[in-house]
Amino acid sequence: MKIAVVTGGASGIGRATALALKQDGYMIWVADVNLEGAKSVAGEVEGEAFYLDVSDEISIQDLVGTVISGNNVPHVLVNCAGIIQAAVSPADLPQDDWDRVTNIDWRGTYICCREFGTKMAEAGRGSIVSIASIAGMRSVPLHAYGPAKAAVVAMTQNMASEWGRSGVRVNAVSPGFTLSPPIIEAIKSGARSEAALASQSAMGRLVTPEEVANTIAFLCSDKASAITGVNLPVDAGWLVAGSWETYGGVRASTS
Ligand code: NAI
Repeated sequence: MKIAVVTGGASGIGRATALALKQDGYMIWVADVNLEGAKSVAGEVEGEAFYLDVSDEISIQDLVGTVISGNNVPHVLVNCAGIIQAAVSPADLPQDDWDRVTNIDWRGTYICCREFGTKMAEAGRGSIVSIASIAGMRSVPLHAYGPAKAAVVAMTQNMASEWGRSGVRVNAVSPGFTLSPPIIEAIKSGARSEAALASQSAMGRLVTPEEVANTIAFLCSDKASAITGVNLPVDAGWLVAGSWETYGGVRASTS
C-alpha cells in the first residue's frame, strides 16, 4: 500500500489532507507536535500517529527512521506543519518569535523535504507538496511568516529540479484565508472580521480546508504526473482581486 506522511496532520488543512489522501487509498502517517491530535486524526483515517517537532532536526530524522525502517519509503510527503505570527512592525517582533516562525515554517519544511526527498529520489519515485501561503506572494505585515513562505516556494522550485530526473515531483500550494482552527478562533475572538477577509477575494469568501486538501491530493496524484515545481494558489481569487481596490473593488454579482 502507498504511504503518505502528513506533517501538521493533527489539525486544519493537515487533517483535511489526511482525510482526502485516505480517500485516494493511501496509508496515512499523521505526524504532529500535538500527539493527541495526531492520534485522533490517525483514528479517523485508520493510520498511524507520530510525534514530530519540525523545529528539531533529530525529531525529523527519528520520524524518517521509523517510517523507513520497514523499507517503507513514503510515496507522498505533505508539509502542513506551520505557525502564524502577529501582524506587527519589525520593532515589535521579538527576534525569538522571528526565529521560531522561520525555524518551523521554512527550516522545518526544508529538513523534511531533504530527509524524505533524498530517500524518495533513491527509490526513484515520490511526490512532495509543501504549504506556502498567499502571504509569501504579496507584501503583508508579517515580517517572519511572509518571507518564510516565499522561501518555501523558492525551495520547492529548487528541489523539483534537483530530483526531477529521479522521479520525485515537488510542488507547493498557497492557501488564502482558510477556515482552519487558527482563523476560526481569530474570527470568534473578534481579532479578525470574516466579512472583511472575504471582501478582499474575487469570489467574496474564504477557503475551506477541504478545498486546499483536494488540491494537494490532486498534486500528489498521477493526474498531476507532469506537474513539478509549481506554486498553486488556492485563495478564492485573493491574489487577483487586491489591485481592484484602487478602482473601488471587484464587480458585484450579476446573477
Ligand atoms: P493549524 O494550526 O490548524 O494546523 C497546523 C498544525 O501544525 C497543527 O496541528 C500544529 O500542531 C502543527 N505544528 C505546529 N508546529 C509544529 C511543529 N513544530 N512540528 C510539527 N507540527 C507542528 O493551521 P492550518 O491553518 O491548518 O495551517 C496549516 C498550514 O497552512 C500552515 O503551514 C499554515 O501556515 C498554512 N496556511 C494556512 C492558512 C490559513 O488561512 N489557515 C493560509 C495560508 C497558509
